[in-house]
Amino acid sequence: MIRGRRRELQDEDVLEVSATAEAIVVEGVDKWFRQHRRSQPFCALRSVSFTVGAGEFVALIGESGCGKTTLLRMVAGLIPADAGRILVDGEPVAGIARHIGFVFQNPALLHWETVAQNVELGLSGVGRKLTKERRRQLVAEQLALVGLESFARYHPYQISGGMQQRVGLARALIANPKILLLDEPFGALDAFTRARLQEELARLVAVKGCAALLVTHDVEEALYLASRVVVMGSRPGHVAAVVPVPGTVPRDRQAFVADPEMARLKAHVVSLITGQGSGGEA
Ligand SMILES: Nc1ncnc2c1ncn2[C@@H]1O[C@H](COP(=O)(O)OP(=O)(O)OP(=O)(O)O)[C@@H](O)[C@H]1O
Ligand SMILES: [Mg+2]
Repeated sequence: MIRGRRRELQDEDVLEVSATAEAIVVEGVDKWFRQHRRSQPFCALRSVSFTVGAGEFVALIGESGCGKTTLLRMVAGLIPADAGRILVDGEPVAGIARHIGFVFQNPALLHWETVAQNVELGLSGVGRKLTKERRRQLVAEQLALVGLESFARYHPYQISGGMQQRVGLARALIANPKILLLDEPFGALDAFTRARLQEELARLVAVKGCAALLVTHDVEEALYLASRVVVMGSRPGHVAAVVPVPGTVPRDRQAFVADPEMARLKAHVVSLITGQGSGGEA
């Protein structure tokens, strides 16, 4: 009888674990690089641990060179970790993951292809099973979602930087990834375009229901978009603090700007980045 009860509990536990599985688990990760074949290796990242929950939006912030891009590349399976483990959707990362969308700082579009063809490239991992008509339909839906339906036949050099970045977003999202990785996607844009695209990104991630890990240099962008901010320190790169951001995402811009708690948090995160903070949670 007791044994039966225990068995039941175990099964429930397993169900519970899979229902609340983290989208990304980074645990005790180290990364070493060499500048030349004969130079001494240096430690770029040491004992990095953090998680991104399913459907959660997490921002990664820290000074230049602390290893943010390296971390994203390891999560995406583009380069291996030298110690520790990385789980994506509960599975250890092994090679380039198909169910991850990647948005780069520079949208990296093919200039000889049209906007629609660039977006369709996002289906290359899954697209062979789709009919031509279905691919066309998915591209049209995705373009509408990022407000570019009338620019399908344009080439990247015929549209603005903000629109190019939207194409990059559409390409990353078209295959409905469970996880979206973004490496300073709005760094090169003016403040107005940046704010508009932040709002679009928040909406798109909510609509798609995917988890997002965003690398940014902009503390306000991190606080506006994320529900937790991972603050990194340098030499070697490490997690200095994980700061929870109150309220729910996507946020209302006006309420966010007017919220004195956000101004306080901004000062706190800046102090953590510059090494003048006390560390730990806000
Ligand atoms: N392939 C590589 N070979 C050697 N060193 C590398 C390589 N990739 C990154 N590094 C080094 O690792 C460190 C972290 O680089 P990374 O690009 O991850 O930093 P980052 O935090 O993204 O910086 P930024 O904010 O300027 O983009 C740097 O010192 C960089 O020179
Ligand atoms: Mg970088």
